[in-house]
Order: sequence, then C-alpha cells, then structure tokens
Amino acid sequence: MKIARFSRVGFILAAAGSAVGLGNIWKFPYITGEYGGGAFVLVYLLTVLLIGFSIMIAEMLIGYMGRKDTVTSFENLAPTNKHLWKYGGFQALAGLFIMIFYSVVIGWIFHYIVTSLTYLPSSVQEAETTFNLMLHTDIWTQLFYHSAAFIWITYVLTKGIKGGIEKMNMVLMPALMIILLGMFMYALSLDTFGRAFDFMFASDWSKINSEAFVVAVGHAFFTLSLGMGAIMTYSASMEKNSNLVRNAFWVVFLDTTIALVAGLMLFTFLYQYGAGPAKGPGLVFISLPAAFYEMGIIGNVFAVLFFLALAFAGLTSSVSLVEPMVQYFIDRFDWSRVKASILMGLFFYLIGIVALLSNIDGFKEYLTWGDKNFFDWVDYVTAAIMLPAGGLIMAVFVGFIIPKSKVSAIMKPQLGFAFEAWYFSLRYLTPVAMFIVMLSLMGVF
Ligand code: PFF
Repeated sequence: MKIARFSRVGFILAAAGSAVGLGNIWKFPYITGEYGGGAFVLVYLLTVLLIGFSIMIAEMLIGYMGRKDTVTSFENLAPTNKHLWKYGGFQALAGLFIMIFYSVVIGWIFHYIVTSLTYLPSSVQEAETTFNLMLHTDIWTQLFYHSAAFIWITYVLTKGIKGGIEKMNMVLMPALMIILLGMFMYALSLDTFGRAFDFMFASDWSKINSEAFVVAVGHAFFTLSLGMGAIMTYSASMEKNSNLVRNAFWVVFLDTTIALVAGLMLFTFLYQYGAGPAKGPGLVFISLPAAFYEMGIIGNVFAVLFFLALAFAGLTSSVSLVEPMVQYFIDRFDWSRVKASILMGLFFYLIGIVALLSNIDGFKEYLTWGDKNFFDWVDYVTAAIMLPAGGLIMAVFVGFIIPKSKVSAIMKPQLGFAFEAWYFSLRYLTPVAMFIVMLSLMGVF
C-alpha cells in the first residue's frame, strides 16, 4: 500500500491547524484577562520560546523517526525496555478524552453561528442569561450540534491524511486567517486599540503570582498541541528529508501570532463596545456577543464570521485530537481507517453526551463529584495530569533514552550551534518545568 504523506505546506497547515484551536481564540484571551495582561503574556511567550519550541521539535522528531502510531514509535525507538516505553505512546488517549468536552464546545459554537445571524443580546446580562439557558436547560440544541460536530470530524478522519485532514486544513486554515485579519484591521481603526495593546503588552509584575505562572506554562503546552501525540502522529506522515526546525518554527509562529491577534482584537472590541477584559470562560459567548450588538447590523456579520473562524479553529484541532488513536488501531490492530474513525468518533460522541448532561439541571446532581461536574473533571484531568505527563515523557525520551548519536545525526545539521542548547532544554529545563506545573495543578502547592 502506498503511504500517504503530507505535502510540505500541507504538513505545516495541518500542524498549525492542530495548534490553533479554541485554546487560542477562546481560552488565551480570557486567561490573559483573568491574570492581568502584560506580565502574563510575557511569561507565556517566554515559555513558548524556551520550552514549547524545544518540545515541538522533540515531538516531531519521535514521529518523524518512528514513522508509525505513537505507541509503535516509542516501542521502535527505545533501545531497551521497549515493552515499558511503549506505554509512553498512550499519551494519545489524552486527545480522545479532550474531545469529550471539546466537541460539546464546538457544538455551542455552531449554535452561535446560527443564532448570530438574526439575534444578538442587547446587554451582558441578557447574554449571560441566554448562554446559561442553553448550557443548563437546553439538551436538544446542544445534542443536535454536538452530533453535527461528531459527524463532521469523523467524516474527515475516514478520508485519511491526504484526502481528509490535509484537504480540510488547506481550506479552513487560510479562511480562518483571512477572517481574523479582516476583523483585526477593523479593530486597528478603533480608538480603543491602544488600550487593548497596553493591556496585553504593558507588564505589571505585581499581578504575576505562582498560579499565573503555572497557568501560562500549562497553556503554552495546550495551545501548541504538545504532550498528546497529535504533532507526533502528523509527523509520522511528514515528507522524507523535512526540516523539522523550520516546520516547528512555522507552527509556533502561526499559533502565537494568531493568539496575539485574536487577543488584541477581542480586547479592543470589549473596550470599545462592552465590558472590560476580565470576564472568564464566558468571554466569547457572553461579553463578546453583547459587544457585537453595540456595533449595529455589522455586528451580526462580525459575530457570524467570528464564530465561523472559531469553529474552523476547533474542527482542525479536533481531527488532530482523534487521529493518534485512529492511527493506533490501524497500525496495531489492522483496522480499516473507516472502522477506526467511526469507533473513535463514537467513543467521544457518546461520552461527550454524558459531559453535556453534566451541565444540565436535573442531571448534574448525579454527575458531579466533589467540586466539579463530569465536564470539568475531564478538562481538569487531561490538562492537569495527562498533558504535562506526556510532555515530560517526551522530553526524557528524546533527552535520555534515544541514543544521542541518533538524535544528533538528524538534528545537528538542522540546529547547528543551537543543538546543545536544545538538548539541554529537553534534558533539564523542560522536565523541571513540567514537574512543577503538574504538582501545582494537582494542588500540591
Ligand atoms: N491546541 C489546541 C487548542 O489550542 O485549542 C488544542 C489541542 C489540540 C491540544 C490537539 C492538544 C492536541 F493534541
């Protein structure tokens, strides 16, 4: 069988499509708002540069050298103890777990695309009521759109690397960039742009505490799609003789630029037309629609385009969250792609329904343990435990386990004098940072 490989541009767009997701447009602006802006942004940028970029190259390298699903790649590349190291590849499960709530959120976005055509809330309070009504009472709307997300994502996966994933990214990623750029230009013309700029780039270190620090590090991983085998699985289909450093650079560059552009644009709109920046997770579903309302009729156009862009970002990330496990069953169990895609799709779809119900009045009482409902638990366990663990395992694997001669044979020509710095970052900087993040998110300190 001929192995399907990404084209050069196809790979960069698909990996950037994975990275640019709800994390950039929905999460980054609201956590920046919560943690006070500039200093937080700086910590995030430094983490991306010093740690994220290194791990991105390491994750690409495992996939590129291994050429298989994540489990098989770990197994093949470990010189000894293969039967143990292969479990490193099960970080791919995290993606499937994330999809349990990610798909529900994409459902909300679909719903907002449709409603924004004709309706926008006239105040933040009204927006909040509308959102909460959907979240806590409207099972059928959420189920309908969650199903639509499931069908779309699964369909693309059945079409494979070339005909599905690459094709979708080649269309949706440019579309997303054009929409954001257009809206950003408009934001540039408003007089509150300067305020938004100051908020995001003027560093006020008094706002930075250890929690903000950890959130910034954790977010750098989430937004770059690291630690879950997504980038690794895509990299197994990278062209031979690819330049990993260049590819990693583009992915990190696009992901970071899009997060900053989205943040600047959203804060400009919020300053100009609505409330201030700190509005929590409801920022894009609550404060933003109310701000769009203030724009008049163009607000509806903007709202629809904005939610479309958000949906595109979410869908291109979704396929990368599921593909690692699809590839796993294809490579290890000889399943057909269609079978693997549908079964993985059904997994997140059905458990996703439980996550959806765990927000609904009348159900949530049965689906809440401790201070979190099922939806929040899935979010927490994946982000707090699985993702940093995946990052840690990869850094150790490339830094200590794969023989240095093999690593340097590929990476030295590409990295040149920076090779040792990169290697150091994998061996020491990243493990320590990941360990601290994990402990702190688990509440140890
Ligand atoms: N990077 C995506 C985002 O910012 O929304 C989320 C994500 C996708 C995380 C794929 C991990 C992953 F493997």
